[in-house]
Amino acid sequence: MADQAVPPKAEVVKNATNLRELSLSGHVGFDSLPEQLVNKSITQGFAFNILCVGETGLGKSTLMDTLFNTQFDSTPSTHFIREVGVKAHTYDLQESSVRLKLTVVDSVGFADQINKDNSVAPIVEYIDKQYEAYLQSLDLVTMKKLDSKVNIIPVVAKSDTITKAELQRFKAKIMSELAQNGVQIYYFPTDDETVSSLNQDMNGHLPFAVVGSTDEVKVGNKMMKARQYPWGTVQVENENHCDFVKLREMLLRTNMQDLIDTTHKKHYELYRRVRLSDMGFTDSDGKTLQETYELKREAHVSEMQSKEEEMRQMFVQRVKEKETELKEAERELHNKFDSLKRQHADDRKRLEDSKKQLEMEMTEFQKKKAFADQQHSSSTTTLSKHKKGK
Ligand code: GTP
Ligand code: MG
Repeated sequence: MADQAVPPKAEVVKNATNLRELSLSGHVGFDSLPEQLVNKSITQGFAFNILCVGETGLGKSTLMDTLFNTQFDSTPSTHFIREVGVKAHTYDLQESSVRLKLTVVDSVGFADQINKDNSVAPIVEYIDKQYEAYLQSLDLVTMKKLDSKVNIIPVVAKSDTITKAELQRFKAKIMSELAQNGVQIYYFPTDDETVSSLNQDMNGHLPFAVVGSTDEVKVGNKMMKARQYPWGTVQVENENHCDFVKLREMLLRTNMQDLIDTTHKKHYELYRRVRLSDMGFTDSDGKTLQETYELKREAHVSEMQSKEEEMRQMFVQRVKEKETELKEAERELHNKFDSLKRQHADDRKRLEDSKKQLEMEMTEFQKKKAFADQQHSSSTTTLSKHKKGK
């Protein structure tokens, strides 16, 4: 803003969500965001997410620190991480009256898995080859996978390690490789006339060649962020030295709101549609989501009802079968009992018959015995009379 010669010092916002708080050590530039969306932004604040992907040691953390003029949490990774991981850190920053909830997502272990034999080759001679191999490997594949999900802004990291002439060739090569492979990068929008010519110009500078550093070096009588070498100093914020300022301008000043909107309207919307259609909801048949949901719900309810009915009938059927089984068993038991009873009665009758028979035989025997006894005693008497008579 014209009347603010000295930018206000950044402050830390206290908030209830336990976010880590950081003090900005200098002016970053996102206090100009209200120019994009004035009142809403001031009351609600901004939320902005940056995913920084690149191989281990590329300079990701340094670039984020340089961009936001602060020191984020970051522990450098080793090259021995087996899998690529992501670490998300959320910070609440404030510059003048504008709050920014910033999430920086860093990748670890990226590109450490590929064989990089070429990297030992003499840099100048093999630089194109290496860049080619580098382009053909993970970066393109990654960008291709991510381009429908996020806004991709390609950058060339550590651009102080490449000569200006090589850098121009490398940039052109990256852009043609991206186009050839159908990678959709984010282009700064040119439909808003207040920023269209600036954005158009900036699109021509993609990918931005950046240098990151949080070291302050004295240049002339000013302290500035720079990387110092025996042969001189590379100034991070000098547009003749690198595109860092362009990146910061585009990302944080001019197009942050468009980046946020594009993420919501294009990427999230696509994700949402795909997820919904995975779940069987399509908005292609002209129905609103509510109607589709109602239809699905009705279908589900009637399916449940018919399942319930089916189960009820199966239960009744099973009860009937069990009942028949039990009845059968009962009848068998009765039959068995009856036949045992009959057998028992038969046996008893047989026994009684033979008892009667025996009793009759016994009576007969008694009679015969009595008769025999009688016979015996009368013959004895006759015999003794005879003896007496002699
Ligand atoms: P990991 O988190 O381990 O994956 O690394 P990183 O990508 O976050 O890299 P980091 O920012 O830790 O930087 C790695 C090394 O590269 C450090 O020694 C930095 O000082 C150096 N470095 C960072 N940015 C630049 C740059 O623009 N130019 C040069 N020459 N070196 C840089
Ligand atoms: Mg890091």
